Amino acid sequence: MSGAVSGGDVSKGAVSKGAVSKGTTPAGAHGEREAAAWVRGMFGRVAHRYDFLNHLLSFNVDRYWRAYTVRRVRHIAERPGARALDLCCGTGDLALALERRSRNVVLGSDFCHPMLVSARGKVEQRHARVALFESDALHLPVRDGSLDLVTVAFGFRNLANYEEGLAEMRRVLRPGGMAAILEFSQPPNALFRAVNNLYCRRILPWIGGLVSGAPDAYAYLPESVRKFPAAPELAEAMRRAGFEEVSYDYLTGGAVALHLGVAHGAPSGPVQPAFPIV
Ligand SMILES: C[S@@+](CC[C@H](N)C(=O)[O-])C[C@H]1O[C@@H](n2cnc3c(N)ncnc32)[C@H](O)[C@@H]1O
Repeated sequence: MSGAVSGGDVSKGAVSKGAVSKGTTPAGAHGEREAAAWVRGMFGRVAHRYDFLNHLLSFNVDRYWRAYTVRRVRHIAERPGARALDLCCGTGDLALALERRSRNVVLGSDFCHPMLVSARGKVEQRHARVALFESDALHLPVRDGSLDLVTVAFGFRNLANYEEGLAEMRRVLRPGGMAAILEFSQPPNALFRAVNNLYCRRILPWIGGLVSGAPDAYAYLPESVRKFPAAPELAEAMRRAGFEEVSYDYLTGGAVALHLGVAHGAPSGPVQPAFPIV
């Protein structure tokens, strides 16, 4: 099993204060609207093979990454009356894992309909208390300060605007609530980083493209990881968005990182949506 190495509490400010890149930039997409549309379309094309390829390309370690995330947030999920939302839930694996730890219905949202259809199939098969809804993570139909836990696994990297994504996560959390971002990262060890890059840039796109029939999707994956902020930068961006007690754990040598942040006090963000569902 993979080990987790803590990146520590970065609240002491050991990292640079530069802004993170704005958001994902798929080749050929101009602006945030086109980037989001491209991402939604791409996941729609691979949804039917998504789970199979996830497990295959990660050698099944993706299950461990999600299980680790649930372990780190379960003290929140287990609170009586706690409300949890898994953003960019895709085919629902993290929402389902959270539901097993939660006393309440867990919410799952995504903006890609075919991914949600796949999630719904699993939810129904397991009779799980997961309520799914279709929504852009940058514009959630959720009231300010109404949730205790917001998670996102391998979805944050795909947002068209990272700062807006963090602001939206912060907005919907009530005081004492927690955000958890599980995402690919840059291994700190140079040798392992080189091996990981070789796998991600050469082998993974080849297998992924072949099996899914959507080579552009699996060419996008390593590119999006390459452009994504390193763990200390993402931690700093979380602090700028108003999160406190920000920390991160490297998993599998830093190929993946889990960032955690706590929301204290009232959010100072955009106003509530007109038709909140929560
Ligand atoms: C790599 S998948 C991850 C799915 C799932 N969380 C998992 O752990 O397997 C990324 C998901 O993020 C969703 N996504 C990307 N950008 C989004 C956005 N702006 N709003 C909602 N969902 C988004 C995609 O539709 C896709 O289902």
